[in-house]
Amino acid sequence: MLLAGVALALALAGDKAGEGRVPSSASPKTRAATPEAKPLTADEQTRFEAGKELYAITCAACHQPNGLGQEGLAPPLAGSVWVTGSPERLVRMILHGVRGPITVKGKLYQFMQEMPPLGVFENQQIAQVLTYVRREWGHTALPVTVDFVAKIRAETETRDEAWSEADLLKIPERQ
Ligand code: HEC
Repeated sequence: MLLAGVALALALAGDKAGEGRVPSSASPKTRAATPEAKPLTADEQTRFEAGKELYAITCAACHQPNGLGQEGLAPPLAGSVWVTGSPERLVRMILHGVRGPITVKGKLYQFMQEMPPLGVFENQQIAQVLTYVRREWGHTALPVTVDFVAKIRAETETRDEAWSEADLLKIPERQ
């Protein structure tokens, strides 16, 4: 659980180069969705495992396997409230991509290349990868369901551009 400890330390420090481990009960404020992780059902655990594989072959190229992001390529996912906060916004980002500048963990990021839309993934795959990122790196957010992804896909059917931070913040947090 060293990674989770480091991710939490990073979240607490609000910047890079976290050192040492922090007890998982350290700061409820940095653990966006729920203070304690609700245990995953067997079905959700299967979704998490499949999502872990998908993450490794898609998202990790930019966001890194440890979720810390990469200089010049992508911002961190570990400790990001975009990940652990409203799935309404998170699902939209995956379906249509993200255009910077975007504030992540109190820091403004702008990259040469924006995040590409990944709507070619099936609803089930998106539910899997998002269930994974919402539970990895010390995150305790609720899983994302296939039905929820299907709902957001239907709601954003006519959209054809990436999301800006301002547009995302206009989406109410319904869940
Ligand atoms: C080609 C590189 C690339 C890939 C692949 C990619 N992203 Fe991103 N992602 C970015 C960039 C770049 C941004 C910031 C947008 C910008 O600056 O234009 C971003 C932003 C984000 C954000 C919001 C900001 C944050 O750091 O919390 C989330 C959440 C996210 N990505 C999740 C994912 C997930 C999940 C996957 C895999 C399904 C993924 N990304 C795949 C490049 C990528």
